[in-house]
Amino acid sequence: MARRTIGIVLNGVTGRMGYRQHLVRSLLALREQGGLPLADGDRLYPELVLVGRSEAKLREIADRHGLTDWTTDLAAALARPDVDIYFDAQVTAQREKALRLAIDAGKHVYTEKPTAEDLAGAVDLARLADTAGIKHGVVQDKLFLPGMLKLKRLVDGGFFGRILSIRGEFGYWVFEGDWQTAQRPSWNYRSQDGGGIVVDMFPHWHYVLEQIFGEVKAVTARIATHLPARWDESGTAYDATADDAAYGIFELAGGVIAQINSSWAVRVYRDELVEFQVDGTEGSAVAGLRNCRIQHRAATPKPVWNPDLPATEDFRSQWQVVPDNAEFDNGFKAQWELFLRHVVEDTPYTWDLWAGARGVQLAELGLRSAREGRRVEIPELS
Ligand SMILES: NC(=O)c1ccc[n+]([C@@H]2O[C@H](COP(=O)([O-])OP(=O)(O)OC[C@H]3O[C@@H](n4cnc5c(N)ncnc54)[C@H](O)[C@@H]3O)[C@@H](O)[C@H]2O)c1
Repeated sequence: MARRTIGIVLNGVTGRMGYRQHLVRSLLALREQGGLPLADGDRLYPELVLVGRSEAKLREIADRHGLTDWTTDLAAALARPDVDIYFDAQVTAQREKALRLAIDAGKHVYTEKPTAEDLAGAVDLARLADTAGIKHGVVQDKLFLPGMLKLKRLVDGGFFGRILSIRGEFGYWVFEGDWQTAQRPSWNYRSQDGGGIVVDMFPHWHYVLEQIFGEVKAVTARIATHLPARWDESGTAYDATADDAAYGIFELAGGVIAQINSSWAVRVYRDELVEFQVDGTEGSAVAGLRNCRIQHRAATPKPVWNPDLPATEDFRSQWQVVPDNAEFDNGFKAQWELFLRHVVEDTPYTWDLWAGARGVQLAELGLRSAREGRRVEIPELS
């Protein structure tokens, strides 16, 4: 059993996602377990080069985790022959040009979503990457969450019969930033800085819908900026120019209708921050990030509408918990492992820049639907 190394440049590692999910929970976790076991018995050990804009922040993170390799010079990092993969978790607006540099440098690329700010950019990146012959991947972490894996298991096992509809509820209250600090970065609320809940969440909804239920054929969306004034990280008031809520209807292949509310201006009365209810002829399920509950047609109650009487049934208690039947790792780490295997062992990998571009397309057409007040069909990307 030999130890093989793979050089990975991590850009945006001082940010929320770059630090917590990708550095700490994925790549450092992989190093702590002694590397990724490969098919031939070797172990693949990630050697990390941290890239960012602030020397002080990079040094602080590196010191905290016993890392030594960091730089503020992206071009120099990409020129290194011991670097195989470029990873990007920067703010969305900085992503496309950095990915282009990495592809030009001949590195494999793995990136957070959305892959670009518009569809033309996202498609161009996918074409460039194919032409360069590099491997490419896009973070689609929700697919690797226990709740979504259980939902996929139910679909694959034929539990639902004919699927009729999907109703998704996502969101929580993001504090305005005046009397309590906001728990998301302020750029999320400025469209000029790449913010907005549609560009943030529709790429997620695209891969969840496409990969679990089927192709997305049309979108109808209504968006809102419910809170037009917010306060940034330094406590300064700013105009929230981006949408902070989106009410979308997505038509899927086979006639399935998905309706998903996304909002940063909603208070949670749910079990999890996102939940999807799926109704089918044979049964229904409600899945969140971790849990999934089902009700089979044979166990479906027959409520009778009578507003004169209090509810006679405890509807929530009539659902059955879907067991784990497996051990679930962190979703980001699980996808990193698949991408690393794709790079070094050439295993199949479908979550690529084309899949990322389809997510950007849904966001772009969702915004068009909202702007023009109409249903928009989604053409296939070529
Ligand atoms: N997969 C997911 O579930 C998920 C969740 C949240 C965010 N994201 C994506 O991850 C990316 C980062 O989001 P985040 O919430 O970690 O943001 P963040 O603001 O916490 O971090 C942004 C990072 O980009 C860097 N950066 C580079 N150039 C910058 C510039 N000009 N201005 C500001 N920062 C700059 C920052 O230093 C920081 O490291 C976004 O593209 C977002 O869409 C993905």
